[in-house]
Amino acid sequence: MWTRRDVVKTLAAGGGMLAMPATIREALGALEPDVEIVLTATKGEAPILSGRATPVWTYRGKVVKGEAGSMQSIPGSYLGPIIRVRKGQRVRLVLENGLAEATNIHWHGLHVPDDMDGHPRHTAAPGKRFVYEFEIKDRAGTYFFHPHPHGRTGTQVYFGLAGLFLVSDEEEQAAKLPLGEYDLPLILQDRSFDGENRLVFLSDERARGGGMMGGGMMGGMMGGGMMDMMTRMMGFLGDRVLVNGRPDAILSLATRPYRLRLLNASNARIFKLAWDDGSPLTVIGTDGGLLEAPVQRSYVTLAPGERIELWTDFSRYAVGTELTMRSLPFAGDMAMGGGMMGGGMMGMMMGNQELPNGAAFPVLKVRVARSEKAPVTLPKRLSTIVRYRPEDAVNYRRPRVFHITMGMMEWGINGRGFEMERVAEDEIVRLNTLEVWEFANDASMGMMGMMAHPMHIHGLQFQILERSVTRALREARDSVSAGYVDEGWKDEVFLMPGERAKVLVAFKDFPGLFPYHCHMLEHGDTGLMRNYLVRV
Ligand code: C2O
Ligand code: CU
Repeated sequence: MWTRRDVVKTLAAGGGMLAMPATIREALGALEPDVEIVLTATKGEAPILSGRATPVWTYRGKVVKGEAGSMQSIPGSYLGPIIRVRKGQRVRLVLENGLAEATNIHWHGLHVPDDMDGHPRHTAAPGKRFVYEFEIKDRAGTYFFHPHPHGRTGTQVYFGLAGLFLVSDEEEQAAKLPLGEYDLPLILQDRSFDGENRLVFLSDERARGGGMMGGGMMGGMMGGGMMDMMTRMMGFLGDRVLVNGRPDAILSLATRPYRLRLLNASNARIFKLAWDDGSPLTVIGTDGGLLEAPVQRSYVTLAPGERIELWTDFSRYAVGTELTMRSLPFAGDMAMGGGMMGGGMMGMMMGNQELPNGAAFPVLKVRVARSEKAPVTLPKRLSTIVRYRPEDAVNYRRPRVFHITMGMMEWGINGRGFEMERVAEDEIVRLNTLEVWEFANDASMGMMGMMAHPMHIHGLQFQILERSVTRALREARDSVSAGYVDEGWKDEVFLMPGERAKVLVAFKDFPGLFPYHCHMLEHGDTGLMRNYLVRV
């Protein structure tokens, strides 16, 4: 038996803090996993641009137990390995911290016990390790992992720490989707580089691998400190798009169907993805795995942390065709230009970035390089999704509302910033209940204007019930909303300025303390994060 759950329950029922004593952890460590992988977070170098290699932070992975195929590296990429496991497997993931600062790993999207989830209160000090052990309870899907130490998540992800976590199951196998090289993970990120090919982040991070943040008007006007403070709050946007850690991505593909798994692993970049020949996108999956049936979109909106899976059939193109996936323009999330959101001084200054959110740019190129027949067809049915019934929610008539707030230059949720081990009365839920949560992005109007926020709940997948938007901001919202895919399981819900969304959330299996936060990493790092407590 896998007994960790029982131990956690006992501790939680005791009402005290939920930290698990080391002795219990050691004892549990004796249980035999099906797969064991060691991930060492360390500094390294990667060939990203031509010329000098780029100093990065990276996970070095090693399979200690289980099939060699449980882990796959992306050749030449600084990004973490791809972990591939099956539903029902028990995994042990050993994080070794080879960095000069504390780190941990959050298994984004996975349903795991609270002390295995990579909460910021559980980190490994430099030179130390943290052992994660859990059973894969999730359905097949494209999950991912990244560090989550409070205040440092943005930095650690930016310098390279992130990887995919792909789960498969029987239902997925029955759908007979493209496999192997035809099952293509595409991790999208934006980054900036200096003249020596070093990653540029905040100027006070220079010593760690970056250079001075792109001078320009803002640098000149504001100087490093003020500028850093703004970026640290508003979100870092790079001026180059990397796919799987490489710039100017060109994929040489065959005239057949592919499964494209897109992850937006940027800190703050929002994508509005479309093919340049206008052909629609066939979406087969979201954050929590396959949809019931494929849906079509003319474009898809992908915020930081979100995943989308596409079925893309290149058989209707002649060999030699080139196709570009672009990010289309949309009403960006600051006062930029339009003045529509009246962002004031700060907004105008932020608008001077080279590539603001809402700007158009190419993401990747596909070269249809060879002809190949494939015995796969798009299934009409992909999976079964059991719909929650809103009327089963214990608070159906009175949803919990979480307002995204901006205080005196400080993000918050319902006016509160992050507190490591605390929850408020209105953040406590009961195990084995279904609730309606409403995230409201219509209260943070301040000198900064308004921004979009992808809200993420740890430890579970939810269903999106409905959305609404303030009339004054409808037009901006509608510049991306046709690209929402709300039909599937989600662990994030993206909200444009003025938008609200109700989601159905069920609390099962694991009592304890879990974060929920904005996945614009700088927002989460500067207070747009809170805990919720699942009480027995
Ligand atoms: Cu992927 Cu708490 O985040
Ligand atoms: Cu945010």
